[in-house]
Amino acid sequence: MKRILALVATGLLVILLASTTVLAVAGAIANTKHNLATSGPNADAKSTDEDEICVFCHTPHNARVAVPLWNRDASPATYTTYTSSTIDGTRDTITGSSPNISVLCLSCHDGAISLGAVVNNYPDATDPTITGSHTTAGKLSSGRALLGIDLTNDHPIAITYNTTPGDLVAPDANGLVASTCQLFKTGGTGEWKVECASCHSVHNNTYAPFLRASNAGSALCLKCHIK
Ligand code: HEC
Ligand code: HEC
Ligand code: HEC
Ligand code: HEC
Repeated sequence: MKRILALVATGLLVILLASTTVLAVAGAIANTKHNLATSGPNADAKSTDEDEICVFCHTPHNARVAVPLWNRDASPATYTTYTSSTIDGTRDTITGSSPNISVLCLSCHDGAISLGAVVNNYPDATDPTITGSHTTAGKLSSGRALLGIDLTNDHPIAITYNTTPGDLVAPDANGLVASTCQLFKTGGTGEWKVECASCHSVHNNTYAPFLRASNAGSALCLKCHIK
């Protein structure tokens, strides 16, 4: 009996290990469109000469924006965000230099600045070269991932999470909604806000396209909205 139990336990362990491996691979940035390095899988927009994955977004030293050790140049863009008569939150006016974390995503997704425009590219003296059918002169220029600078037809971002009217699920003390969606404080202070990374997980494509949870049956929308 003991032997059978041990065999069953070993079997379970093997299954567990196997599924962890699959998850680890599915979650790795290397196999996603956010690997812009030469090893990246996305021929539509990536570098021909840079093999580091993190460098397109982060640097260990002399970051332009302290958190999260941001390595990209500021976009020259001024954005127009979603507006409507029923909105309850307060919206920030954002440009490429604003402290809101969404601006980090937009410095690639606005099409206004090269995907290779980084601050530090040690030990090279020049920025990574970018090519691909969705790019022009290194900038994102076509495809669904090009949001542009007019964000009026995109879900509100840089907006406070106003739970007073009672139609939004309350966040916990760390700004996490339904244990899934992360709210952000601009520059680490003030009120909780919805930003791109509230719904998206930039390093992980387990729930494509880079979502924090599956949106099957609109499950992601219902993490925040009481509808
Ligand atoms: C395409 C841009 C991009 C790339 C490439 C990227 N990151 Fe990030 N990273 C971000 C953004 C944006 C944030 C902040 C938003 C967030 O935390 O969700 C962040 C946050 C982080 C954080 C702090 C929060 C957390 O999730 O732990 C760490 C650590 C991190 N990145 C490490 C890395 C490492 C290591 C690599 C390379 C293997 C990497 N990143 C590649 C964009 C990127
Ligand atoms: C270094 C540049 C860069 C940054 C910074 C960046 N992205 Fe991307 N992202 C890309 C590229 C390149 C693609 C692929 C575009 C294409 O192929 O047309 C992409 C694709 C995507 C996609 C679509 C994936 C798919 O499978 O179609 C999503 C969603 C996305 N990014 C969200 C984000 C969010 C949210 C952030 C910030 C938290 C962010 N990105 C920051 C470069 C970036
Ligand atoms: C309220 C949640 C939410 C916020 C905030 C959000 N997204 Fe998304 N995004 C989604 C969902 C859900 C999808 C997948 C459905 C779809 O493709 O339309 C998506 C899809 C995308 C795509 C793939 C292209 C497309 O149209 O399908 C890109 C690129 C993207 N988001 C980037 C961003 C960036 C950059 C920001 C911030 C400026 C952002 N998202 C803010 C929920 C969000
Ligand atoms: C991270 C939390 C969060 C998630 C997830 C989320 N939303 Fe929102 N959404 C908000 C907030 C906050 C507002 C602004 C509400 C306000 O201030 O009135 C908003 C606004 C909206 C509005 C505009 C409301 C108006 O009054 O004009 C629509 C429509 C909407 N969301 C749809 C969606 C859909 C569809 C999804 C899923 C794809 C989604 N949301 C996911 C937080 C979220």
